[in-house]
Amino acid sequence: MRRKIVAGNWKMNGSKDLSEKLVGYVRGEAGSLDNGVEVVIIPPALYVGDVLAQARGAVSVGVQNVGQWQSGAYTGEISPEMAKDAGCHYVLVGHSERRQLFGETDELVAEKVSLVIASGLTAIVCVGETLAERDSGEAESVVADQVRKGLVAVEQAEDAGKAWKRIVVAYEPVWAIGTGKTATAEDAQAMHASIRSVLKDMGAPAEEISLLYGGSVKADNAAALFSEPDIDGGLIGGASLVAEDFVSICRYVPAST
Ligand code: PGA
Repeated sequence: MRRKIVAGNWKMNGSKDLSEKLVGYVRGEAGSLDNGVEVVIIPPALYVGDVLAQARGAVSVGVQNVGQWQSGAYTGEISPEMAKDAGCHYVLVGHSERRQLFGETDELVAEKVSLVIASGLTAIVCVGETLAERDSGEAESVVADQVRKGLVAVEQAEDAGKAWKRIVVAYEPVWAIGTGKTATAEDAQAMHASIRSVLKDMGAPAEEISLLYGGSVKADNAAALFSEPDIDGGLIGGASLVAEDFVSICRYVPAST
């Protein structure tokens, strides 16, 4: 059975105060979530300690990015080993903002994924097409290419069975991030089914890999998205900064049957 996950990506937002209040609230509500969803909060790395202190095991914690090295003279970077040492379980890799604003390529994504899974953490690998790519009918092939290239090290891992267990894929159409535009549940489902078939082609246990949808997920569209058979939860940006909205979205994950 696939894990159902709702992850809140705070991006470059937040404070000690938000870490205390929002995470405290989410922790309090997490106990009453009876749908088996795993709630994850991904704050700026500086606040991981504050978030973990409030999460107290009821909420999982991740970082938004890591460097492609484990240690050394790389000023400003943090490594997967450090994220693990700090108490994180998840690392976002290849978010479209990293790809667009910081020049991250599929090859760099692959290097990072390889280090993340070697550390025993789970990589949430982000993929998604731009509006121009969707309009020209290339969305599926662009996303398939990102999946194949970004996960090549998993496919080639010595113990690939174990490596695939540390992979979650988040489909986030670039044109839907922070814009208020969401893919329709049908379009998102179609892309998720396509990603699952690419994973299968790569030899992955595709039916066991959680696929999250992200891009303007809000309390009023989460139910439709999460009821699709290949959508196993969400990666939430803006709405994860408002405690009540984030918890409502978590509640919309249907209970596993
Ligand atoms: P959004 O961001 O929910 O604000 O669109 C999603 C994301 O970038 O992960």
